[in-house]
Amino acid sequence: MSGITEYYTLNDKSRLPKIGFGTYNEEFADNKDVILQAIECGYRFFDTASLYETERSLGNALRESGINRSEVIIETKLWTDEMGTENVAKALDRSLNRLQTDYVDIYMIHWPRQTGKDDENWKELDTDTWHAMEKLVDEGKVRRLGLSNFLPHHLKNILDNCRIRPVVDQLELHPGYSQENAVSYCHGSEVLPMAWSPLGRGRENATIGNSILIRLSEKYGKSIQQINLRFLLQKGVLPIPKASTPEHMKSNMDVFDFELTDDDLSMLSCMPQTAWLGEHPDFNIPDRKSNPNQR
Ligand SMILES: NC(=O)c1ccc[n+]([C@@H]2O[C@H](COP(=O)([O-])OP(=O)(O)OC[C@H]3O[C@@H](n4cnc5c(N)ncnc54)[C@H](OP(=O)(O)O)[C@@H]3O)[C@@H](O)[C@H]2O)c1
Repeated sequence: MSGITEYYTLNDKSRLPKIGFGTYNEEFADNKDVILQAIECGYRFFDTASLYETERSLGNALRESGINRSEVIIETKLWTDEMGTENVAKALDRSLNRLQTDYVDIYMIHWPRQTGKDDENWKELDTDTWHAMEKLVDEGKVRRLGLSNFLPHHLKNILDNCRIRPVVDQLELHPGYSQENAVSYCHGSEVLPMAWSPLGRGRENATIGNSILIRLSEKYGKSIQQINLRFLLQKGVLPIPKASTPEHMKSNMDVFDFELTDDDLSMLSCMPQTAWLGEHPDFNIPDRKSNPNQR
């Protein structure tokens, strides 16, 4: 299987394959072998995070694959307990150590707020964190900077105060949660929107139980997951699906030979809210499961 041969161009003129591979693993089990299969299937762009506890598995898989570091793109994220001027450089060093590499291609702030609605100083914390990340670019440990779960009001704060612009913003995006306002703000700011949980994390109402997706799947002769991914691509969004089997991995890359009509895109954009995972960037912030220093 050849890899993804279509690319998005970022605001610094570098490129990303139009589909990446998500490594979040709910069980936090070692998933090196799954990632090795993804490499074998042709994926070259990998999303991880300090929070996921999959950086070490990704590093192990890349080492075992024998693939050149320059041929893969690694993006990782610092978690809320790693934000702030004093913490960022140490957080990156821990990530680099787990990934077994000396640079990451994209380093992201995972979440715009530390503690939700009581967190009144979030703007200052975000910009302090960003400025510390900019230094890491100057030092050559990070190639580009990105954001995750930044809604327009969070993104504007960074854009107004940055020296190095973010290249991407990762948001929960899929049919039934297409966040048109946030996506359009990203596009207007030349920040590429990326989709996390692009398959609605396999929830029944995002897949086999959804009548609109079933109808389109039958019409195009494609799986519901392929309809999801095609929808995102035609919206100018970069999806990072996670999959555990080679069949799923290959099928998720096989989405470049058909096109949804404008009417079908509109129908998917206007679907009632479905399969939202319930993590609002301002109010519902996930908990870290373990101490980052102990991994
Ligand atoms: N920035 C953030 O805050 C954030 C939050 C969550 C996730 N993420 C990132 O986004 C990535 C993807 O999101 P996600 O892992 O939540 O969920 P997802 O990619 O939307 O869905 C994964 C689920 O879909 C199934 N699946 C994958 N391909 C399939 C196919 N072709 N046919 C049928 N089922 C298929 C998988 O099953 P199998 O495993 O059995 O293949 C799994 O149950 C994560 O891995 C992570 O890297 C980022």
